[in-house]
Amino acid sequence: MVNVKYGSCPISTTFLPGCGQQPGLDPPNRFRILGGHSALEGAWPWQVSIQRRSGHICGGSIIDRVWVITASHCFKSSRVYSNYKLQVVAGLNARSGHGKGIQFRSVKQVILHEKFNESTYNNDVALLKLCHQLYFTKHVQPLCLIENEMQEEQLNFGSCYITGWGSLVSKGLLVNTLQEAEVLLIDARTCNQRDWYNGHVNDNMICAGFDEGGVDTCQGDSGGPLQCYSKDLERFYLYGVTSHGKGCALPKKPGIYTRASRYTGWLRKAHVVSVSGALDLSLVKLLSVLFISCWMDLLL
Ligand code: ARG
Repeated sequence: MVNVKYGSCPISTTFLPGCGQQPGLDPPNRFRILGGHSALEGAWPWQVSIQRRSGHICGGSIIDRVWVITASHCFKSSRVYSNYKLQVVAGLNARSGHGKGIQFRSVKQVILHEKFNESTYNNDVALLKLCHQLYFTKHVQPLCLIENEMQEEQLNFGSCYITGWGSLVSKGLLVNTLQEAEVLLIDARTCNQRDWYNGHVNDNMICAGFDEGGVDTCQGDSGGPLQCYSKDLERFYLYGVTSHGKGCALPKKPGIYTRASRYTGWLRKAHVVSVSGALDLSLVKLLSVLFISCWMDLLL
């Protein structure tokens, strides 16, 4: 496990001690999860809601005290005109609830993948740098990162889950309580069959869901995690970032996720840019960094 340090500000490229665990859940409840229902409070402590002017736009995952990983398309599509008042809400279960344990943070930088392709959704990954650190609590925890594709194979993942506040039907409304569902990883060959995605799925993407449909992410879930549990290491890892799909939950059209293990190098690079970015404009351009001025965070 390597922790790369750049200057005085380390970013963990594998996992922070204690990442991927659910300290807010009592063990007996841990594997209550099956298909598509409300999550227990504290079940997915790395899941955040990314909001603009207090409206939810996408999900995301905490990977560090100041870094949230999400999807590039959340910030490029025409529905998002400005990144003014961009905020991350951590420790949230019911969107309407203003329960204790919720932490609001404004966003200082949005780092889009420089090769994100809006028509194919290739490289649909982005990083948000928060203005202030998050406190790790029972309800706010980081998710573990996979170091590379080799580790992806070695980790011997058991079950994988999708989570989000996205709608329950295609083009529907957002839900109030965080939803969770178990999904199966579907290999690219199956997913690329002619009556499935017909060759669209490349090595930077992974399919997850069911041949027969029925369980899937949908609009509003984008950017959130596809998280898989490693039985050996007893923790959850970020396996994919919710990206796109045809409709929602249709047969032979599972959700397509950005394959997290392919982006560890990019995460490192993005981090260097964020630290030294102002000095090296060519790099900044390369990574499409948007700087936003910090506004008041309620440091609860
Ligand atoms: N692009 C969608 C969003 O912006 C996520 C869609 C996922 N679609 C799917 N069929 N799994 O929220």
